[in-house]
Amino acid sequence: MPMQKGNSWIVACRVVTAIVSSFIFLEGGIFIKLSTSYLLPGMILERPLYGQSGELLLRKGSVLTAQSIMAMRRAGVLAVRVTSSFETERGDELNEVIQLNALKAVKEWNKSFDKKIFATLLKTIEDIIDEILSGKVVIGSLSEICLADTYTYTHSIDVAILAIAIGVKMGFHRKKLICLGVGSILHDLGKTKIPNEILNKPGKLTPDEFSIIQKHPVYGYETIKEHDINRISAEIVLNHHERYNGSGYPNGLHSNEINELAYICAIADVYSAMTADRVYRKALPPHEAYEMIMVSGEINFTPVTVEAFLKCIVPYPVGSIVYLSNGHIAQIYRQNPGLVFRPVVKLLSTGEEINLGIENNIVIKGLVPQENIRQFAMEGGAANVSLSTACKPAGNS
Ligand SMILES: [Fe+2]
Ligand SMILES: [Fe+2]
Repeated sequence: MPMQKGNSWIVACRVVTAIVSSFIFLEGGIFIKLSTSYLLPGMILERPLYGQSGELLLRKGSVLTAQSIMAMRRAGVLAVRVTSSFETERGDELNEVIQLNALKAVKEWNKSFDKKIFATLLKTIEDIIDEILSGKVVIGSLSEICLADTYTYTHSIDVAILAIAIGVKMGFHRKKLICLGVGSILHDLGKTKIPNEILNKPGKLTPDEFSIIQKHPVYGYETIKEHDINRISAEIVLNHHERYNGSGYPNGLHSNEINELAYICAIADVYSAMTADRVYRKALPPHEAYEMIMVSGEINFTPVTVEAFLKCIVPYPVGSIVYLSNGHIAQIYRQNPGLVFRPVVKLLSTGEEINLGIENNIVIKGLVPQENIRQFAMEGGAANVSLSTACKPAGNS
């Protein structure tokens, strides 16, 4: 039902106050992974933060200050988990130590190509497989790694975790999962040979620069072949930018010319890239990336890969803040199995729980953009926030 103008202002004020409280006063409860661009002084770290060599930078429970947030941004930290207000139900996430080991191993192997380090890398892939096979890990918003590091390494781990999860959904045996994990964690290995100013260029690439970037699958493949790593993993590295309709690179392969494991790595790669902040564009919210792959995935990947991928990802991860069609703002509290667009939510204004799987007359209109939440907080509350900003749903409404 549409709100009266006067009432809507009061509702907007309450909503904004609730959002500000949940992000600043942090009364303990749920945890949200936030891009460092959106961190605010006073937020509390939910997980320890490690530096590039695995050294502890900030302890779990540290209260963030303006200085520590600036230091994190300078160190290249992409996102951290912070505490917010409501209790929510969360699935277990991949063991932090495994992620840290994976990151160290992939970085070291990229530098030295040492056999012993490769054995460590293999062991971490097996650990990831075990965690996912044990059914404990819910792949909602990919890895929750909290590390000061460059995009490529954390992205490689995200891609490996999601690819293995897809492989598990497709019923692969262990040996196949290992090939998939190794190929996926090393898929962008060739980027180490691409000049940084091209790789991280904030603006549009020139055709020449793009053709240099397009060489990274071949560079990675050549390195892997030199070091006698299995053929399937090497093919994943070579073909992770090939597409079902032949529009990919480096060889313009199509349909069954591309190995099914390369398709899995490719879909995980696309999702991970779309949902991460980059120097040249902001991250897409998970539901938009999910919908894009749902709608157009079969142009680029096989139908079976798209189907398995959609079973591994939720468009609205627990903890996300969303606009509802009844004019309220809510936080995702629990997933409803099989009803990915209709989870259980809690209203920010009252804490009331609504099961959208049962309440069919209410729908999610979109994710509250992080910049709105940040703006509310920076401007000191409702009084300075315009109604249109406070109540405007995200783009997919
Ligand atoms: Fe790539
Ligand atoms: Fe990639």
